[in-house]
Amino acid sequence: MGEIGFGLIGCGRISKNHFESIKALPGADLIAAADIDKRALQAAVGKYQCQGYLDYKEMLKEPKIQVVNVCTPSGLHAQIALDAIRSGKHVIIEKPMAMSLVEADSVIKAAKRAGVKVGVAHQNRFNKTITRLRQVYEQGKFGKLTHGSAVVRWNRNDQYYSQAPWRGTWANDGGCLMNQSIHNIDLLQWMMGEVESVFAYAATNLRKIEGEDVATAVLKFKSGALGLIEATTTVFPTNLEETLNIFGSDGTVVLGGIAVNKVEAWRFADEDEAAVLANQGAEPPNVYGFGHADLIADFMDAVISDREPAINGEEGRKALEIILAIYHSVKYKKEIKIPLQEEFTIGISR
Ligand SMILES: NC(=O)c1ccc[n+]([C@@H]2O[C@H](COP(=O)([O-])OP(=O)(O)OC[C@H]3O[C@@H](n4cnc5c(N)ncnc54)[C@H](O)[C@@H]3O)[C@@H](O)[C@H]2O)c1
Repeated sequence: MGEIGFGLIGCGRISKNHFESIKALPGADLIAAADIDKRALQAAVGKYQCQGYLDYKEMLKEPKIQVVNVCTPSGLHAQIALDAIRSGKHVIIEKPMAMSLVEADSVIKAAKRAGVKVGVAHQNRFNKTITRLRQVYEQGKFGKLTHGSAVVRWNRNDQYYSQAPWRGTWANDGGCLMNQSIHNIDLLQWMMGEVESVFAYAATNLRKIEGEDVATAVLKFKSGALGLIEATTTVFPTNLEETLNIFGSDGTVVLGGIAVNKVEAWRFADEDEAAVLANQGAEPPNVYGFGHADLIADFMDAVISDREPAINGEEGRKALEIILAIYHSVKYKKEIKIPLQEEFTIGISR
C-alpha cells in the first residue's frame, strides 16, 4: 500500500492534534478538510495545505481519502461516521464515539459490514505512563486488585462554554463526565476490568450549561474491586490534575500531572520506584497530551496489516456505557447494573 490519504471533518480546537499528527507521520497524506464554518475551513486549508469542503458529504466522494477523522461536536459523531463508513472510508472518531449505545452499535455494525476500521480517540492510552502501567498490569504485578479511582479536577470557564454553542448541551455534548472525564474513566476500566454497577451524584453548580459540571460516582467491578470517580470542570482557577490511582495486594500506582502523564507513586516489590520517578516523560503543553500521533500511527498500521486498531469501536464503547450508566443512576437515584438493560437519553432532569 502507498500513502494513506486522510480527510478531516470539523476544523476546531482538537483538529490541530489530528492535522499535525497526519502531517508529521510518514506514509500519511492529508488530502482534505471539511467544515461548515468558512473561516475555520479557510484557516485549516491555508495552514495545512489541503483541499477544503464546506459540505463533508462532497469530501467523502474523494477516492484518495481512505481514512476520515471525525472532529465535529460529539452529537454529530455517529451520523458523520456512518456516512463515511458507507462511502467505504475507515474512521477515527473523536471521543465520545457517539452519544448513545444504539448509535455506537450502529457504527460498529456498519463498519463490520463495510469491512472498514473504526478507531476512537482515547489518546491517553498511549501516554508513556499509561503504557508502562498497562505493562505491569498485564504482567499481573498488582496481584489482586482492590480498588481504583479516576479524578479529573479541571477548569473550563464560562468563556469555554460560550465559545461554541454545542458545548455542555445534552444533545451534542453532555457535561464534565461525557466530555472531559471520559478519558480517565476509559483508563480506569482498562486497568480494573469490567464494571458491574455504579451509583452516582451529579450537579451543575457553577457553569451555565445543561450538563453537569461536577460529578461523583462509586463503582463495583466484576472482580469485586471497588472504584471512585470524581469529575469536575469548576476547579479554581485552572486545571489542577487528572489522576489515576490503582491499588492491588502487591502494587500501588498513582499517575497524576494535568493529564495522567506524571508518576506520583510506583510501588511493587521488584520495581525501582526511584528510577521510575527519575525517568519521567515531558509534561504535555495542554491536557490533550501527545497521544494523537501514536493513536493515528497505530490506526494506519491496523489499516495496512488488516488488524483491529488498539482502540476500536468496542473499546471506545466501554467508557461510553459506564458514563451512560452514571447518568442513569443520577436520573433514577439508584444503583445501575452494567450491561445497561435499556436505552435512554443522556439528559438528566433535576
Ligand atoms: N481527544 C481529546 O482530548 C479531545 C479534546 C477536545 C475535544 N475533543 C472532542 O473533539 C470534538 C470537537 O471538539 P472541539 O473542542 O474541537 O470543538 P470545536 O467547536 O472547537 O470544533 C468543532 C468544529 O466542527 C465544525 N462543524 C460543526 N458541524 C459540522 C458539520 N456538520 N460538518 C463539518 N464541520 C462541522 C465546527 O464549525 C467547528 O469548527 C468533540 O467531540 C470533543 O469531545 C477531544
